[in-house]
Amino acid sequence: MTTNRTFTMVKPDAVESGNAGAILKMIEEGGFRIVALKKTLLTKERAGEFYEVHAARPFYNDLCAYMSSGPIYAAILEKDNAVADFRTLIGATNPANAAEGTIRKLFAKSIEANAVHGSDSDENAAIEGSFFFSKTDQF
Ligand code: CMP
Repeated sequence: MTTNRTFTMVKPDAVESGNAGAILKMIEEGGFRIVALKKTLLTKERAGEFYEVHAARPFYNDLCAYMSSGPIYAAILEKDNAVADFRTLIGATNPANAAEGTIRKLFAKSIEANAVHGSDSDENAAIEGSFFFSKTDQF
């Protein structure tokens, strides 16, 4: 099923650097409507739950430690073709490979501290959005 929603997190490195506002501005200027938004701190356990799909990967433990190292912004976004268009806006996972003008090219520090998360499918967007927000948080 194709939906018009995706899910994002502004990650600890970008929040710590004071870039969350600039990133949210790029998201809105990119045509995405913010349906839900909150600043929150993940525990290492909860970060592990969110990224459980990567549990077997060598970077999993470091990723969970990093994602719980400081506050994040979690958001549900709406736009036609949201998942694919958002992945274009943020650029490649590794900022070294990210296109000019993308959020990761502008703000990411490394493949791990890569400024933002973006869902990779409509199905995961729905799962990830409901990890942070109830239906009554979404407008
Ligand atoms: P994200 O899009 O949130 O999905 C998984 C995250 O794991 C990724 O962004 C990076 O922050 C992190 N990560 C760390 N190392 C790697 C790697 N070698 N390959 C992919 N993702 C990595």
